[in-house]
Amino acid sequence: MSDLPNDKNTAITNGLYDKGWSCCENYLTSEECMLLIDRLERLQEEQRLEAAGIGRKDEHQVNKDIRRDKIHWLYRDKCPADTFYLMKMEALRHDINRGLFLGLFEYEAHYALYPPGGFYKKHYDSLKGSKNRIVSTVLYLNPEWRPGDGGELAIYTDGHADGDEPEKIVQPKLGTLVTFLSEDIPHEVLPAHKERKSIAGWFRCNSSSADRVDPLR
Ligand code: OGA
Ligand code: MN
Repeated sequence: MSDLPNDKNTAITNGLYDKGWSCCENYLTSEECMLLIDRLERLQEEQRLEAAGIGRKDEHQVNKDIRRDKIHWLYRDKCPADTFYLMKMEALRHDINRGLFLGLFEYEAHYALYPPGGFYKKHYDSLKGSKNRIVSTVLYLNPEWRPGDGGELAIYTDGHADGDEPEKIVQPKLGTLVTFLSEDIPHEVLPAHKERKSIAGWFRCNSSSADRVDPLR
């Protein structure tokens, strides 16, 4: 990890500070993305992706009216792709903490595959004040994405009422990294018309306590 923050990480940090979100194209190179795509495709071939749920732990439930993606968590030292991405996010964590003093402590992330027709209805990633997930990240892994393919991420900044206009629509293009404040930014994945690949992740505070220790992945 270098001492000076990387320029892209500085831009992300400034975006979080100024408006609560940031969209950085070409955060990773195509070659770097290929390593991650290969891993996701292998997981898919081996049928190791599982239906994503909503809610944590005992509240966890699969609801196909809300989200239709399939996921697989990344683990440290499991394979070169997981290790590579988690190290990139570790450097980002360090740079955001240096700029914003958010006290980001841990990172968790999963590969996500949306089948054709897949979506994720408007939601927040964390409940206000729960101090669970603080900053969300999504990296897109789709080399050929054209307008009309759907699957855009709509970012809202004006609350959770239906009918609000999104502040930004992001195409899920290869190498684009979106970062936003988990408690403040409602967002949704519009229906994808073809298979859509990504890695969603969350920086968290250390919320371990004597009777509840947050699991390390
Ligand atoms: C999520 C999510 C956005 C995306 O997984 O919580 O909102 O663009 N993903 O995949
Ligand atoms: Mn989300």
